[in-house]
Amino acid sequence: MAIAASDAANQPIGLALAEIRPSGQSAEVLSIFVQPTHRQQGVGAALLERLTAELSLRGCSSAHFIYTTGQPTTKALERLLQKGNWTLPQPRMLVCRSSTEIIANAPWMRRQTLPSVYEIFPWQDITTAECLAIQQTQASSPWIPRDLYPFQPEKNLEPLNSLGLRYQGQVVGWMITHRLAPDTIRYSYGFIRQDLQKMGRLISLIANAIQLQIDAENIPNGIWVVSCSRAPMLQFVRKHMAPYLTSIEETRGCFKSLINDASQPTTSVQIADRETLIIEKPTACVTYS
Ligand SMILES: CC(C)(COP(=O)(O)OP(=O)(O)OC[C@H]1O[C@@H](n2cnc3c(N)ncnc32)[C@H](O)[C@@H]1OP(=O)(O)O)[C@@H](O)C(=O)NCCC(=O)NCCS
Repeated sequence: MAIAASDAANQPIGLALAEIRPSGQSAEVLSIFVQPTHRQQGVGAALLERLTAELSLRGCSSAHFIYTTGQPTTKALERLLQKGNWTLPQPRMLVCRSSTEIIANAPWMRRQTLPSVYEIFPWQDITTAECLAIQQTQASSPWIPRDLYPFQPEKNLEPLNSLGLRYQGQVVGWMITHRLAPDTIRYSYGFIRQDLQKMGRLISLIANAIQLQIDAENIPNGIWVVSCSRAPMLQFVRKHMAPYLTSIEETRGCFKSLINDASQPTTSVQIADRETLIIEKPTACVTYS
């Protein structure tokens, strides 16, 4: 769904996008944008208010919003959310960026070897029996956090440096990466079985994966994503990775109950006509510059 705002001359000045989840019960706000020349005049608040009202009219009982901090207008956005009675935004992920040239200088990049009882292998070489073993043990006695489960239905898995770790013949860890763009690999999630954690195994796995990217020579950018709930990994990023990163941003998430939220907007900003400007299933975030 897209809600557009226009000025008195009917020129577009802002846009808010949301996607209703397949259940039809909840929606995700994908983007909100107001042209710089029209900011701080209540347009953003009006867009968000109208968007949530429309979602409520369409049967959604809640809306979720995940955004990245560190932008020049983050404070304005958070003020909007506060005014709109969204829940207090909570930290979700750290999004760290660097280049192979810079990260190659990190001292921990030299600690890539593991004791011989371990075997690092390309993730694409995992056997069917090993996949089944992970699925079955996870089903009978969960040992992998849901967000680190290795068989997530995500496209663009990077075969170059998605790695698995075997210990005494069993798969006990992985570093799964994805190609976001021809020049960028995202280090999406890494995991080591609990009894083998706190021994630097994951760092070795990450260093091996980064080395493969460095060796490839034509993929200069990396993005490392770390959940804010994983304290040890956050500590590693802040202490050992930070000097070799070009940026660290945080994603935050908040939520709004839409029950009884189908009221009409109360602001005087002209919001473009619902029939002509609500677009079903937008395929991209649209911004005006
Ligand atoms: C975030 C954005 C949509 C806000 O639009 P807007 O039309 O300026 O919003 P409004 O005028 O309705 O409200 C802005 C509020 O933020 C406040 N604000 C602005 N800058 C602020 C700052 N630096 N610190 C604190 N509050 C600030 C304003 O005072 C106002 O609050 P008030 O009504 O209580 O005075 C707009 O800045 C934008 O398009 N940013 C770029 C895109 C973006 O970052 N989108 C979010 C992620 S998808």
